[in-house]
Amino acid sequence: MTEAILLVGGKGTRLRPLTMNTPKPMVPAAGVPFLTHQLARARAAGIDHIVLATSYLAEVFEPYFGDGSALGLHLEYVTEKEPLGTGGAIRNVAGKLRSAPDEPVLIFNGDILTGLDIEALVDTHRTAGADVSLHLTRVEDPRAFGLVPTDPDGRVTAFLEKPQTPEEIVTDQINAGAYVFNRSVIDSIPAGRPVSVERETFPGLLAAGAHLQGMVDSTYWLDLGTPQAFVRGSADLVMGRAPSPAVPGRCGDRLVLDTAEVAPDAKLTGGTAIGAGARVAPGARVDGSTVLDGAVIEAGAQVRDSLVGAGARIGARTVLDGAVIGDGADVGADNELRAGARIWCGARIPDAAIRFSSDQ
Ligand code: GDD
Ligand code: MG
Repeated sequence: MTEAILLVGGKGTRLRPLTMNTPKPMVPAAGVPFLTHQLARARAAGIDHIVLATSYLAEVFEPYFGDGSALGLHLEYVTEKEPLGTGGAIRNVAGKLRSAPDEPVLIFNGDILTGLDIEALVDTHRTAGADVSLHLTRVEDPRAFGLVPTDPDGRVTAFLEKPQTPEEIVTDQINAGAYVFNRSVIDSIPAGRPVSVERETFPGLLAAGAHLQGMVDSTYWLDLGTPQAFVRGSADLVMGRAPSPAVPGRCGDRLVLDTAEVAPDAKLTGGTAIGAGARVAPGARVDGSTVLDGAVIEAGAQVRDSLVGAGARIGARTVLDGAVIGDGADVGADNELRAGARIWCGARIPDAAIRFSSDQ
């Protein structure tokens, strides 16, 4: 087992405005672009060649990760002219693979934070003699995912992407976004047109009698596709609940990058990450949140479960709870933003302009 494909071309729509200037895998989680954690975990599992399938904002990956040697990897990049979907993206990088037709290739969605035992997935694949093996996890509400029922031997019996009706919700096992494909299966995906691996390739393989094997486990798993999930994932990385060899510092209640300035009486808790050059003023409290590079949290502000974009400013005494503040936005003093509020990049909110409660 030596190589993997990482799917990093999605538009990250549900994470906007964070993904206006930055593709989802490059948004910092626990102090480094999220993708770093995935690359480091793959490396630790013995993978040394990774092909990144890029599309949206493709140009930012290579300048940051280069040839991958800093991570002990050989990285290559393939950019789609038009987005090809998940299956099309996999097929589009096939020319860069070195594996023989019957050798396994790993494939990862680029927005998954997980403790998956990658080697165990490959072992399952070999032992089952499968064509494709999928990491599966159980979730309470599977509707936003691909449902993957299996038989008692773990063999996949159906693949239902984003079920629409109650009758389609036949299991709580979902596609966790990590696969092992035999190389020959990758080559069999049609080239040069958009293909969804979830809606076309998996159902097609099942209909043709291919062997798809599922491996269910209960290790840490989170899709970082929404702001709430992204903030949660970053905090779990900082606290060491989510495993990654790439967290820049010791795990604990907070992670403050070197050039950040935090007032001695500011309180940082719950896995808060403070980015390079950011500033947290006296009396501010930041809990379970991500504050990106160069952002400023003014005196007495209270920030909980929120994401503050690069260079944004949060005014004095302002309260954020479950909010996302886009890069460079300026939120004045004495505001209150809650429950999924999204402030667009560069927007300006005057002092005392928005509240969810009386000001007394
Ligand atoms: N290169 C490329 N081109 N990558 C793409 C494209 C594309 O056209 N479209 C999506 N991707 C990448 C995204 O960047 C992401 O890393 C991955 O493919 C999955 O896309 P998402 O948009 O995050 O899909 P999802 O979260 O709704 O659903 C997928 O993941 C779930 C698990 O988190 C599906 O695979 C579900 O079946 C699965 O349960
Ligand atoms: Mg996703």
